[in-house]
Amino acid sequence: MGEVDERLTSSGVAGHHAFANRGWLKTHLLSYKTLSLVVLSVQTSTMVLLLRYSRTSINFAHQPYIITTAVFSSEVLKLGLSLGFLHIESGKVMKATLNRLYEDVFINIWETLKLAIPAFLYVVQNNLLFIALSNLDAATYQVTYQLKILTTAIFSWVMLGKRLTPIHWLALCLLMLGVSLVQVEGSSNGNGSNSKVLPVAPEVEVLEGGDSVILGGTEEGAGFPPPDIRNEHPNTEVSRLLGILAVFVSCISSGFSGVYFERLVKRGTQTSLIIRNIQLGMFSIAFAVIAVSSDSTAIKDGGFFQGYSVATWMVVLIQAFGGLVVSVAMKYADNILKGFATSLSIVMSTLVSWLVLGDAAPSTQFVVGATIVISSTVLYGLTPQKGGVYTAGSQLSSINSSHKIIKEEKSE
Ligand code: C5P
Repeated sequence: MGEVDERLTSSGVAGHHAFANRGWLKTHLLSYKTLSLVVLSVQTSTMVLLLRYSRTSINFAHQPYIITTAVFSSEVLKLGLSLGFLHIESGKVMKATLNRLYEDVFINIWETLKLAIPAFLYVVQNNLLFIALSNLDAATYQVTYQLKILTTAIFSWVMLGKRLTPIHWLALCLLMLGVSLVQVEGSSNGNGSNSKVLPVAPEVEVLEGGDSVILGGTEEGAGFPPPDIRNEHPNTEVSRLLGILAVFVSCISSGFSGVYFERLVKRGTQTSLIIRNIQLGMFSIAFAVIAVSSDSTAIKDGGFFQGYSVATWMVVLIQAFGGLVVSVAMKYADNILKGFATSLSIVMSTLVSWLVLGDAAPSTQFVVGATIVISSTVLYGLTPQKGGVYTAGSQLSSINSSHKIIKEEKSE
């Protein structure tokens, strides 16, 4: 019996039985799956706005904070939180925690090494995203990047044997249509200088994977583009093509590494999310150290935490928290739903930046595209999976697990 089932039939069963008694709606609303997706959506939007604030409120007479150090800090925090969870799970007994760490991470080194693959891909992906953001406007980038949902669906089918119903595919096609509409809107704006919708999105994505600043690191700029995005290439057509190409390759990487991680935490011999996050975190920190070393001169001059404000620390905190939420969403929901949740957050943050922060109103075409994105998200999310989510011998999805609980409840 897999870990998901174990969780629901042992430790989690009491709570879930209670939910089942109160009906389907509550069971689903309070599941890890729904909670993680809602939190992820809110977290991504908060991150966009907070990061924007942390960068735009800087007095540029002073040195802005060095992004590689912020990335490193959030990776360390994420690993620290994971270790804390492991300690709690081990009954807060230090010896038990260390034993578990020793056995699952160091003795079982082969399982640990498997995480080098997604950690490496996340680094490459985030570097490519940096290139993309240097050549595309933020809105075009953010929405085009949602194409990763399609690559994720394909990898989920190939690597997890996930079978999608025609309605799921319809939702994916609608999503692509919505993405294209916004994409065309981006193209009609010419080059990448348009950042009217979400001017700070690049910073968010730079932070997202934790390692994205390797290519972007500069002595003075601390690996960060200024708030107005500049094209890397003087020829705007070439620049745009380069940016789109980088996004496409990132979509492939994101799809693969996400599904790879999902497979490990749902099917592998080691399915503990906490252990997997610790293993991933160790490799991520190693890469973050390399990134920090690229800013060594600036750090020597101004210190590791130069330019940090309360907002910077909040960004670090939310980023670390976000990474953990992403992993929960991968385990208890799936990567495709996680992608839909993120696309919703684009719309949410656009609306908030328009209504609350007084940014330029989104164009009609963007609104139509965004509406299609939202509708397809709802359609996808509400359509039940056909049978088991995975092929024979694999574990059930949280939806099926919830059904199982209700069934068990009825038979009692
Ligand atoms: O854009 P995408 O959805 O692929 O980004 C996912 C991000 O979540 C990655 O940048 C990665 O750093 C982060 N992540 C994490 N912990 C995990 C899995 C992914 O922090 N277990």
